[in-house]
Amino acid sequence: MSKRQLSLNFFIYPDGHHEAAWRHQASTTSRILDVTYYQELAQRAEAYKFDAVFFADGPALADNVRYAQRFRLEPITLLTAIASATKRIGLIATASTTYTEPYNLARLFASLDHISGGRAGWNIVTTSTPQATQNFGLPEHPPHHERYERAREYLDVITRLWDSWEDDALVNDPVSGIFADTNKIHTIDHIGMHFRVRGPLNVSRPPQGRPVYVQAGSSDDGRAFAARFAEAIFTAHQTLASAQAFYADIKRQARAFDRSPDQIKILPGISPFMASTQVEADRLQEEFNALIQPEFSRTQLRQMTGLDLAGFDLDGPFPRHLIDTSAAHGVASRFKLVVDIIDREKPTIRQLVQRLAGARDRRPAGKDRRQHPDLVREWSG
Ligand SMILES: Cc1cc2nc3c(=O)[nH]c(=O)nc-3n(C[C@H](O)[C@H](O)[C@H](O)COP(=O)(O)O)c2cc1C
Repeated sequence: MSKRQLSLNFFIYPDGHHEAAWRHQASTTSRILDVTYYQELAQRAEAYKFDAVFFADGPALADNVRYAQRFRLEPITLLTAIASATKRIGLIATASTTYTEPYNLARLFASLDHISGGRAGWNIVTTSTPQATQNFGLPEHPPHHERYERAREYLDVITRLWDSWEDDALVNDPVSGIFADTNKIHTIDHIGMHFRVRGPLNVSRPPQGRPVYVQAGSSDDGRAFAARFAEAIFTAHQTLASAQAFYADIKRQARAFDRSPDQIKILPGISPFMASTQVEADRLQEEFNALIQPEFSRTQLRQMTGLDLAGFDLDGPFPRHLIDTSAAHGVASRFKLVVDIIDREKPTIRQLVQRLAGARDRRPAGKDRRQHPDLVREWSG
């Protein structure tokens, strides 16, 4: 039997994933705009045999920036700098199909792939947060199915743009004076529902042909999109059973799209506290939790559950009966995930906040481990 190999991806949040990590004395807050900080992190990940580093992104400033580090350097720019400081590690940037144009993005990723010698990856998102709309002159955030419909056309266009130069179209021969073989450079002449793009691209075919396709949607549309196109899928689950069901569903759908299920890596997130002993790790977690700002927590919970918890006692039970489950709030999959935790664990408001702030749960020692995998990290704007 062939050996299976784990793929490890390092999801870098500038100051750590815990909402209050940036306030902890061990944090490196002063370096969040320092490119050498990210280069060093990526170098370490490379030395420790990680396959890729990954940056999340969204085209709007999240509402809760007052209390949490919620802005970031643009990922493709940052990964270009990381490319020059590393040799082997994959470089995955998030970019939205709803709020970019395929021509611009094709050029950016082709450039990253050329500059890094074929290490670019694209986390294809449709952007679930509506704030971006107002930055792009749209009357409203396009509905879910429309975003995925646009994403499918987007992928078709952008893939053809990367293919618009055949592999050997760039001749670059000063002796003959031929720079490029124009018989091997093609327009794409796309006219569709969302895009009109003539092509060809203004940069030659990237070393990989195109970046590795990564996806992280959990809805029915998102899963179908991922099963059809993605080579790696980021996902977040609270229980082993739901993670296994997700895995089985993606692999089944991949077969239906005539793909080999082995072509798709499923990458569940974990957000561990690491220390020499369990006691030290627990202490670290408590220190982080003590730094969470209650006001911030209330905003977070309002975004995730639709409930305004002003006036509620943080140490009282979470008022589950007030959540309107007939309407989705924020990211649908995240909403479900939070409601599932409330139903399963019946936490106080503070316990729920702490659970979500660290994006993890204590991992029980010994044989119980399999029933309680670590809480995993989702994207939170
Ligand atoms: C690990 C992980 C990382 C994600 N990163 C981003 C991101 O950077 N930007 C973004 O807009 N969405 C991000 N998401 C959210 C999903 O891509 C997707 O937009 C969301 O799940 C809504 O899609 P859905 O309705 O198909 O589930 C991430 C999700 C996960 C699990």
